[in-house]
Amino acid sequence: MKGMITLDNKCCNNKILEAPFLKEMMKVTYNMWRMGWDERNGGNISYLLYDDEVSKYIDTNKFTREIKLSFPVKELANKIFLVTGTGKYFKNVIDSPETNLGIVKVSENGNSIYVLWGYEDGSSPTSELPAHFMSHIERLKIDKNHRVVIHTHATNVITMTFVHELDEATFTKTLWKMCTECLVVFPDGVGILPWMVPGSDEIGRKTAEKMKEYRLVIWPYHGIFGTGSTVDEAFGLIETVEKAAEVYVKVHSCGQIKQELTDEQLKELAREFKVIVRDGILK
Ligand code: 13P
Ligand code: ZN
Repeated sequence: MKGMITLDNKCCNNKILEAPFLKEMMKVTYNMWRMGWDERNGGNISYLLYDDEVSKYIDTNKFTREIKLSFPVKELANKIFLVTGTGKYFKNVIDSPETNLGIVKVSENGNSIYVLWGYEDGSSPTSELPAHFMSHIERLKIDKNHRVVIHTHATNVITMTFVHELDEATFTKTLWKMCTECLVVFPDGVGILPWMVPGSDEIGRKTAEKMKEYRLVIWPYHGIFGTGSTVDEAFGLIETVEKAAEVYVKVHSCGQIKQELTDEQLKELAREFKVIVRDGILK
């Protein structure tokens, strides 16, 4: 329902804890912590929610706080997102979603967000909100069903960025060669940024630039971003890259590679699975 958004300080009934999108978020953050990827407050997730699914639980025109953005996101006007809080530990989301998560709505002019639910201890969305919001803008241009951005500190992906050259084509090909089905899961490969200070508008802009072409973006010595139309899809992409990176790390700690998938075999896979692989990677 569209209407004037108004301040309402006495948020909220917690009927929303039954919402499928909230349960999904509680499960995935806990799983990611168990994978060892999200130490302390590492990692953040944003999930685009549709007005009709949220308004079953809360009034989407009542907010508890307004937070100004340092970067305008007019393209996301009136869109609603479930976002992890800054400084919050993924391991704790499952026990206290109302303090570790929040639901925010972007203002009509895109200059601020309204907190509709959550962040009950007065906290705010992730410091990586610029990268999340700007990535949503780019992915929505390509895929109208896009909904999820996940950032995490996947251990083997980080490890690999120390010992592998950071060229996107060669990095992607190495990952494809580590497990047979990698190429089928991410035929579009991985984008890689140079190292940058996290949490800034600048890293947000550069990440989103890569998102015009890639669903996965690696931040060297830091972590990875994955996107998708569902939590499973974004998580599954990251999980597959992380698995390939783990195999890479294990193979290289065993010594010399004696045999591996050839470019011809990778092309055969692409043909059989009918996926279009990014140009300029296979010979
Ligand atoms: P937040 O706690 O602000 O989400 O930051 C965690 C992180 O991973 C920064 O890159
Ligand atoms: Zn991080």
